[in-house]
Amino acid sequence: MKLPQARGPISRALFDYMHDGPNAKSSLVVRMCRASDALDDVDLQIALWALYELHFRSFDDIDERWEWDPTLLAVRSKLEDAFDHALHEAIRDALKKQSACVQANASTRGGDLASRFFELVGAFEGPALAQRVQRDASAEQIREFLLSRSIYHLKEADAQTWAIPRISGPAKSALVELQFDEYGNGIAGQTHAELFAITLDEAGLDSSYGAYIDEVGAPTLAANNVMSFFGLHRRHRGAAMGHLAAFEATSSLPCRRYAAGLRRAGFSEAAADYFDEHIEADAVHEQLAVRAICVNLVKGEPQLEADILFGALCCLVLDSRQSAELIARWDDHDDSATPVQSPSVVGAP
Ligand SMILES: [Fe+2]
Ligand SMILES: [Fe+2]
Repeated sequence: MKLPQARGPISRALFDYMHDGPNAKSSLVVRMCRASDALDDVDLQIALWALYELHFRSFDDIDERWEWDPTLLAVRSKLEDAFDHALHEAIRDALKKQSACVQANASTRGGDLASRFFELVGAFEGPALAQRVQRDASAEQIREFLLSRSIYHLKEADAQTWAIPRISGPAKSALVELQFDEYGNGIAGQTHAELFAITLDEAGLDSSYGAYIDEVGAPTLAANNVMSFFGLHRRHRGAAMGHLAAFEATSSLPCRRYAAGLRRAGFSEAAADYFDEHIEADAVHEQLAVRAICVNLVKGEPQLEADILFGALCCLVLDSRQSAELIARWDDHDDSATPVQSPSVVGAP
């Protein structure tokens, strides 16, 4: 994969600097936006995504030594401050619109962590993307959904793996068990990322890593960046596990709907396999993540409970924003009856 396209002055300055190589004498000046705009600022989000990608598979057109370059780490830290601030604002705003149950859980009320967690997730109201895919999304719209999700699913579980050395005891063992499953139980070709690549191929989309990074908007980038932000900082280990638990707890039923939607729209059985696999897997992962990881984590470190719930809310709110962006585009399209810009499609199902 090559560096993505710049989307504004921050990413342009950053990518020009990165192309020059760590030994060049060029300087990097990054002008920041207002922090509260960070979740909607595609320029900031693509810059942050690229800086995080240095720790995953990086880019073919830049020097690998950039990963630990002090200047880039300083820029990343500034972007993360803006991101962190915006996350807290978004959670606060979203909570105002949610039910009293969600609001009460966010400030940790009585009961054990697991029951509070399940109440919080169960009461959270997000956009009905899965119902839309199941019921009436067109094949083109389902491809848009798949390419948006490809940014995460082609590196599925990787950001959470960073938490393994940061926790201990039963919580660590449970996280390893969950991740082992995400990585296909040691069977070559069976990692969930590879299963999703098959879905993309079957849908006539490009399954190469990062193929659609230039086509996704700020909500998709933010939903991905939050996992790297939590995963790369030890101090956010609680939020990382809360995010993971909320992700798993909101996956099984939607995956049933996605699989049904793909079949309804004429996609192949092989295309639906990834979602079929997650109906059962994520029902198990949900229990593992909440009861065996998060509950055990707070037994050893009770101060992490608020972070776990914060991470869970970040997952719910950012995934809702990602889904809402897609639905809004589909609704605009329906209203105007004019063609929307199609994703790059390399074939047909
Ligand atoms: Fe998975
Ligand atoms: Fe899972």
